Amino acid sequence: MGVDPGSLLLHFTRNGDYAGGAGDLLVLERGEGPYVFDTKGRRYIDGLSSLFCCQLGYSYGAEFAAVAGAQLERLAFNTNWATAHPPAIELAAQLSARAPMEGAKAFFTSGGSESVEAAWKIARQFHIANGEPRRTRAIARDVAYHGVTLGALALTGVDRFKEPFGPPAIPTRHVANTNSFRDERTEAEACATLLAELEQTIVDEGPETVAMIIAEPVQNAGGCLVPPEGYWKGLRELADRHGILLVADEVITGMGRLGEWFGLQRYGVAADIVTIAKGLTSAHAPMGAVLVSERVAAPLYGDGVALLHGITFGGHPLAAVIALRNLELFESERVLENVRELEPHLRERMAELLDLPIVGDVRGAGFFWATELVKDDDNGRFDADERERLLRGFIPKRLLEAGLIARADDRGDSVVQIAPPLICDRAQLDEVVDALAATLEDAGKFIGAGQAVRSTPTRSV
Ligand SMILES: Cc1ncc(COP(=O)(O)O)c(C=O)c1O
Repeated sequence: MGVDPGSLLLHFTRNGDYAGGAGDLLVLERGEGPYVFDTKGRRYIDGLSSLFCCQLGYSYGAEFAAVAGAQLERLAFNTNWATAHPPAIELAAQLSARAPMEGAKAFFTSGGSESVEAAWKIARQFHIANGEPRRTRAIARDVAYHGVTLGALALTGVDRFKEPFGPPAIPTRHVANTNSFRDERTEAEACATLLAELEQTIVDEGPETVAMIIAEPVQNAGGCLVPPEGYWKGLRELADRHGILLVADEVITGMGRLGEWFGLQRYGVAADIVTIAKGLTSAHAPMGAVLVSERVAAPLYGDGVALLHGITFGGHPLAAVIALRNLELFESERVLENVRELEPHLRERMAELLDLPIVGDVRGAGFFWATELVKDDDNGRFDADERERLLRGFIPKRLLEAGLIARADDRGDSVVQIAPPLICDRAQLDEVVDALAATLEDAGKFIGAGQAVRSTPTRSV
């Protein structure tokens, strides 16, 4: 008998599976370093950083509590609507100094979907101010997840999340993502084709109608889809040529996940707008932000112009002091350096998984990695029934038995992902990969994947 969630509705979950304690619901009550403990006292290594949020793991509670307590005693709340407070002003300055764009201004939100929707509204206001009100459309990528509130949902490229909810709030065209597994082309050819398809889409829509292109530096849904060399420079060039704003959705890739403050910095490209959330406070408070380049924010400073968007709790002082403390801890604990130093080791360890018959591809960057699972040596895909048994049945259960929290997902193809806390040391990363390897080996046997251990990997990472 599992724990009964009672009146609690679980997000993106088959609630019936757990009603009345029917399923074995994981209920976590404590954390320490990269580990979390459930109500039965079992320890797991959190190989997913609580859905890509807990960059610092779970041992800095007292540090955050100190700044939170002091702020609550000084001033529990004030908005950023026509008034402000020192923590929001300071946090905006700190983020602006690190942002992948010139003279960034920060608009605060309570999470990722809100950041994405605020980005859309700011983009629209920019175009209207520039005399281009017809720029009402967006371009996003297949299978990408940008949130599920109605505006963000329009940009999300997962059809089954959208179908029940009617016409999209933002007219959006989805173009190919950068999944290169099973792609025979060279990286340069793939990049050229992706950019050519994107430009054709812009031309088909009418360049004067496109407001923004939104993409993640490394796309999460579909399994850590890294861009080919030159892709982001190409996006920047296309956006500039057609007067379109380039929005980097860094809700996952921001705040150190790829070893830089922002993932785009890895690709040497500036964005017009960046969205962040999740790791901004290392999940010690809910908070997101939209960073807007000086050029794009400029019309918002025009005579008599108001920003037509606001969120009561956006930039809450409690969240802001926690985010500021998070930035300090990133520096004192050398978090970015840790990711950069250990990425080669993690890459090497992940590549070993290619020896398992069920693993067709390993891809990722920083502390953000996916294995794509295949049915046979021809990299065949699992059918719906197999995916159900494997990704919703066997693997999640086996991962927990192995003491690892990781994510099995099939919004695109079948993948298992890891994104460990950015404070993990080498031994803890090994623990994550070893538990993943054991799970995937058993998963292969369970589903009867592959014919033999391959003598050479399908792809190198
Ligand atoms: C890239 C990206 N954008 C936006 C969101 C939406 O964030 P939230 O769930 O905080 O609304 C997510 C959530 O996972 C995300 O991964």
